[in-house]
Amino acid sequence: MAAEQSQIGVIGLGVMGRNLILNIAEHGLRAAGYDKKSEQAAQLGKESGGLPVTPCENYKSFIAALKKPRIVLILVPAGKPVDSVLQELLPFLSQGDIVIDAGNSFFEDTNLRAKTFGEKGIHLLGVGVSGGEEGARHGPSIMPGGNELAYRAVEPIFKAIAAKVNGEPCVAYLGAGSAGHYVKMVHNGIEYGLMELIAETYDVMDRGLDFSDTELSKIYGGWSRGLVNSFLVEITAQIFRRIDEKTHKPLIDLISDEAKQKGTGMWTSQEAMRLGVPVPNIDTAVAMRDLSVFKTLRVEESRILSGPIVEPHNDIDKVIDDLYKALYVSMILTYSQGFALLLAAGRKYGYSFNPAIVAKIWRGGCIIRSAVLEQIMKAFENEPNLVHLLDYPYFAGEVVANQQSLRNIVSLAAQWGIPVPGMMAALSYYDSLRSAWLPANLIQAQRDYFGSHTYERVDEKGTFHTKWRETEVAKV
Ligand code: 6PG
Repeated sequence: MAAEQSQIGVIGLGVMGRNLILNIAEHGLRAAGYDKKSEQAAQLGKESGGLPVTPCENYKSFIAALKKPRIVLILVPAGKPVDSVLQELLPFLSQGDIVIDAGNSFFEDTNLRAKTFGEKGIHLLGVGVSGGEEGARHGPSIMPGGNELAYRAVEPIFKAIAAKVNGEPCVAYLGAGSAGHYVKMVHNGIEYGLMELIAETYDVMDRGLDFSDTELSKIYGGWSRGLVNSFLVEITAQIFRRIDEKTHKPLIDLISDEAKQKGTGMWTSQEAMRLGVPVPNIDTAVAMRDLSVFKTLRVEESRILSGPIVEPHNDIDKVIDDLYKALYVSMILTYSQGFALLLAAGRKYGYSFNPAIVAKIWRGGCIIRSAVLEQIMKAFENEPNLVHLLDYPYFAGEVVANQQSLRNIVSLAAQWGIPVPGMMAALSYYDSLRSAWLPANLIQAQRDYFGSHTYERVDEKGTFHTKWRETEVAKV
């Protein structure tokens, strides 16, 4: 009988799903769980240790265990698995039920699915959940979107299980349709950008300064208490301390240097290009993961293509200080690009999300949580119409004051032949933004020259075309 009392059901009992359901149950909410792999449900049973959790064997018993209107949270990989679960689940649902897709679904898929379900009187909420296993178990950042009334019905559950910062839950309604999954996609794009930057600082200290893993761990540990205070820098410090149980060597040195990806960073890049919003740090991060996979080619080329020799530096402390500040400035510029995309998407798709609220719910639980987000929240709270983070005096001041360190690192890395494309992208983004003039007049002239694409003039209104081969040319 107890099973009938479940306030929420979770489909997909992989590591994330199991941790999330245990988190829900730990907050006193009775929850039912189902997975088509029966061993996952059995595992949940083993892990639940007295918590009000009901593992179910099939859809029928799962549905029977849920209170009406039913709340069903799906946590399965994006794409086809979501559609399969939705298809299987649909015949068991009734009008007024709420389905929560808590995976990393592509936002356009969420729009389509919400429409199909909406026509049947069932609400489908697209909800981003960030924080990995640990977050799912002890408090993720939750990015919900969809029908507002349906959201309000599940809000108490989300508020209970979300991470808390100063007692406030890291969850807020972000808007109709796919607003939640859109924000999660951009979160992941920023995540890719930040991870690339941190990896570059590692490369500079490893190949440039020959630092040991222990030294690296100490450096990142120190940094994580300063300007670049963040979850990603914090775990980096821990990663460099980890010893492999099999070989007793540092584990990091035994991990293959080919980075995998599930596509959310690429979606962010593609989407930004579609909206005409430059996000060079996210583009670069995706390209570098792609490049890393060309391992055979890289190994071959490493024997053929020469580059400069890394000369020992005579002021290592200065390099470390520059690297720290370069990372800080590049982080700010990466967040700036992500927020610029969010603002453009808000206008384009009519999402009602408030950037201050997005920054607020990203301060805890999620992978990109950092001290910088606290400042981003304040910036948008103080200036709700801010169009770009660098328009805000605090961020402009931080970037201007620390830019020289970024320049020093980019030039040092270029001299050493160590790739730092993320930091280079950040610096070029900054230098382009502060350029009242860019050489795009030449691009316009070339377009007009070879394709009669026309151009605008600075001294006259209108659209112009020149017969470039026939008209007057300056003598050279
Ligand atoms: C999170 C993460 C998570 C994502 C992983 C892996 O917020 O908890 O963004 O949702 O799936 O980071 O992503 P990639 O496999 O694409 O690196």
